[in-house]
Amino acid sequence: MPDPSPVDLAVSALRRGDLALLPTETVYGLGADAANPAAVAAIYAAKGRPAFNPLIAHVADLKTASQIAELDDRALALAAAFWPGPLTIVARVRSSGLVCDLARAGLDTVAVRVPAHLRFQEVLQAFGGAVAAPSANRSGRPSPTSLADAMAETGAFAAAALDGGPCAVGLESTVIGLVGEAEWLRAGGLARDRIEAVIGRLRDLDVDIHRTPGRLVAHYAPDAPVRINAAAPMEGEAFLSFGSGPETAPGRFSLSETGDVNEAAQRLFRLLRAADRLNPAAIAVAPVPMTGLGEAINDRLARAAGKVG
Ligand code: TXA
Ligand code: MG
Repeated sequence: MPDPSPVDLAVSALRRGDLALLPTETVYGLGADAANPAAVAAIYAAKGRPAFNPLIAHVADLKTASQIAELDDRALALAAAFWPGPLTIVARVRSSGLVCDLARAGLDTVAVRVPAHLRFQEVLQAFGGAVAAPSANRSGRPSPTSLADAMAETGAFAAAALDGGPCAVGLESTVIGLVGEAEWLRAGGLARDRIEAVIGRLRDLDVDIHRTPGRLVAHYAPDAPVRINAAAPMEGEAFLSFGSGPETAPGRFSLSETGDVNEAAQRLFRLLRAADRLNPAAIAVAPVPMTGLGEAINDRLARAAGKVG
């Protein structure tokens, strides 16, 4: 018999109720069988995450998504436009048995996403059910965008780790609420105007940490303090520049030499980690425009700086 492939090993770990580090196009996830409450409890323990944070249920396709969530016409239009991809839809849950109460933090809604990453797709197709997976960072820390970063965060808790290379998007998925009026719940890897072009204007949600704990202040934070909208670094600071050409000096990194927000999204968490490893007095970050994925980048930076309430 040939040795089991890394995908097979990840699927077996999920079936046993163990945790697996899994690549997605957004960020690496720490996955468990969403139907298994003991496995889901192990995710919360590994992340040091408050148990009221509901998790995203990842599925292979729209058919499985429709088994776990009530997807209305708006959801189907978004699914047709953006799945597989970096969009998470919150809708009323159906009693499929595929997502346990704990994975939803007891809510009667469920967050569902069909991810695009090929390796993760292989896992989901072989597994058949739903995989609950938050970003693989410890709670409050930047999301990992490589297997090495994921291993450093929560690798000790995972029975399997699947390498899928660096994440193509680099930011978590955009989260949209479709229970009642369409709501903008979390800026992420899919820009708001692209979603509004399909289903019309989204309502901004008043900050409600019980419904969207991803909006907590001081989320995504490295160890060093973060100073945003900085024109230049001060003494002892590391610096993330944007659109000002290549960086060669030590402690200076470029989010995008050409001022491309998609490239900056891809690099953001990796460079925050690289800067943090130098133990700087602070990490200063140049202004990033609000266009396209710039909204999500600025959201994460403001949280890293503790500037969002
Ligand atoms: O890109 C991503 O979304 C990554 C990868 C692994 O897929 N996952 C991720 O998961 O970022 P997590 O757990 O770190 O963030 C899930 C977000 C949180 O903001 C959570 O509050 C929201 O989704 N969420 C989950 N279920 C919800 C629900 N029923 N109602 C409202 N918000 C929900
Ligand atoms: Mg997260």
